[in-house]
Amino acid sequence: MAEDEELGLPNLPRTGVILCECGGLIGGPIDLEQLELQASALPGVIYTHREAFPCSKDGQERLPKAIEEHKLERVLVAGCSPRLVEKLFRRAVQTTTLDPGYLMVANVREQAALPHGDDPQATLRKAAGIVEMAAACLITAEAAPPRYGKVRKNALVVGGGLRALSVALALADRGIPVVLLEAEKENRESLYDAQGGNRRLAQERLCAVRNHPGIRLLQDVRLMAVYGHPGDYEARVALGNQTISLQTGAIVVANEAAPKPLGNGHWFDRTRIKTQSEFAAELEAGESPVLKDVVFILCAEESQLQHCSRVCCAVGLQQAIRVKQHQPDANVTVLFRELYLSGIGGSQMAELVQARNLGVTFFRYGQQFPPVIGDKTIDIQDILTREPLRIPYDRAILSMPLIPGGNTRTLSTLLGLPLDEYGFLAEPRTRLRPGSYADPGIYVLGSAQQPADSAEALFQAYLTSARTYRFLNQETIRVESPVAKIDAGLCTGCGNCPQVCPTNAVHLERRDGILSLSTIDELLCVGCGNCVVVCPVKAINLPGWDNQEIPAQISAALDERQFKPGQCKILTLACEWSAYGAVETAGHHKTPMPDSARILRMNCSARFDPFHILWAFLNGADGVLLGACKPGECHYGMGNLYARERVEVLHEELAQHGIDPRRLRLEFFSVQDGEKIATDLANFQRQIENEMADRGHMPGGVHMPVKVHI
Ligand code: FES
Repeated sequence: MAEDEELGLPNLPRTGVILCECGGLIGGPIDLEQLELQASALPGVIYTHREAFPCSKDGQERLPKAIEEHKLERVLVAGCSPRLVEKLFRRAVQTTTLDPGYLMVANVREQAALPHGDDPQATLRKAAGIVEMAAACLITAEAAPPRYGKVRKNALVVGGGLRALSVALALADRGIPVVLLEAEKENRESLYDAQGGNRRLAQERLCAVRNHPGIRLLQDVRLMAVYGHPGDYEARVALGNQTISLQTGAIVVANEAAPKPLGNGHWFDRTRIKTQSEFAAELEAGESPVLKDVVFILCAEESQLQHCSRVCCAVGLQQAIRVKQHQPDANVTVLFRELYLSGIGGSQMAELVQARNLGVTFFRYGQQFPPVIGDKTIDIQDILTREPLRIPYDRAILSMPLIPGGNTRTLSTLLGLPLDEYGFLAEPRTRLRPGSYADPGIYVLGSAQQPADSAEALFQAYLTSARTYRFLNQETIRVESPVAKIDAGLCTGCGNCPQVCPTNAVHLERRDGILSLSTIDELLCVGCGNCVVVCPVKAINLPGWDNQEIPAQISAALDERQFKPGQCKILTLACEWSAYGAVETAGHHKTPMPDSARILRMNCSARFDPFHILWAFLNGADGVLLGACKPGECHYGMGNLYARERVEVLHEELAQHGIDPRRLRLEFFSVQDGEKIATDLANFQRQIENEMADRGHMPGGVHMPVKVHI
């Protein structure tokens, strides 16, 4: 710092950059040595360090030491999704004198390493651009003063199966009032709950829940919105024709996965071809007719989904035993690809032995030659003998893979939880803290996250209830979600902001006897940023997305050095609840993205300011794509509709200033739209390049007369 001052350079905050190798996921595709070199040359950077897993327990302990040792005033972690790890790193920073608001995570994994891994130069350029954006943001960042909130001593549990019932009972038994939201009737019994012992247990627990004075059971409801922060959430729930509001300290998501339906394909005779769930119901009702040839096909359609459902093998085995016990003369055959057997004390291995002793025949098939179901027979190739086999059947039972429950996507949107590539809620990285999400008041378990077998799921239920209880036992916690701030000296009392606040957190107060000063109720403000945009004198700001940070990031994102000469430059302002999630989904799937695109994460499209677009064009953007939540899905209510209105007005203004309005696009996304956002960006790039070629100039830079009124 002293050197900078002597040289007459601005007094920049001392910034440290930690580069995560992510066990090779980042370190493989990205030349981290080069990236570190480039990062070390950024303004203010005085310390760089590469680590295999900075989010590990050891890494978390090293971070505070590095902050103290190098007197860091800003910390930038170049790693994976900030939605997943930023709060975790901020908690590590809380143990130092540095304000956690001065830490930022730059996502070089989903945005650069995964989608661009095949092109080392493009990957490095992209990663360097992302790091530069974050560093520019940190330089201008103003941490908000810490806020502390009370922790409500109650919990909301979402789900209806054994896991949800178990968590609810465990919490209520410890004196925590619980509201149990059962959203979907069809998921009340998961596949594994349908097994004998578990079914009885689930019924007993449902009965206990109904009779427990500390549990309020709401069935067939729909979660509409969730506001607030850990320790104090407000959940709006549709119950019949009415909407009720529930205040809660913590939210536990324990909804069930559901077997993939058989669909309307050509199944010859659906009375002879059943799913495991259908057959379970048949066995339970004692309706199964006398059968001669029963064939169980495990892992049916599993190869298309590429994930193991972890319960079907055990269920299939138990059903095969049951058929043999009731109809010893039936020929029972199990066709399997891999047998996943766990169970407490090797119980499922014992069942395998029992099935063999009862005369059940097993054949293994390879992934390339799945069973082919004919009218009366099933053909497979035995993997051991490589001989084709034709097995007759009068009942074929297919174990269909478990897929995410119907409301998983809604929960992901409402709670801001990322989805994995299969559409389940993404499991927190085990090396962070198994079972914990970045938001300490939200817990996810069991099949909401991924299919889990019974022992695993019950273990998770008890672990989660203990964690939730410990969290709710705190009196106050530090609130990290940002709220808008008003500069009273600048406010003119124009009255714009109260009109657009979705939670009525802004109102006008008397100043010198005149109703002329906006004030914000911090407890009501949800931090959407809508008021910031409509303020004509920029008297309102939103820490994390403030009036300096966003333009600084835009300028850095469009830095010529991070593009090939003449390359088209596209800036994407992405709502983190949808478009940014879609970018992550594209990354998980390694969907190629145009390397001309730079992504700026926004809290909501409501925070997008027409000034940002003009600033982007002035800084050389060839196109700007605004990514918002789909209508009706905005986390803050109507932020996306305000954004649409602003884009329409801006289109007209751009045309008046001689800027082709097609260079600004608004698209709506959900978190799963990885393919869509990649395609939209590729099409957008092509469109811009064609238009520029038609007009006889190459992309890259401002090439129109611009007159900006700010
Ligand atoms: Fe995505 Fe508002 S939260 S547009």
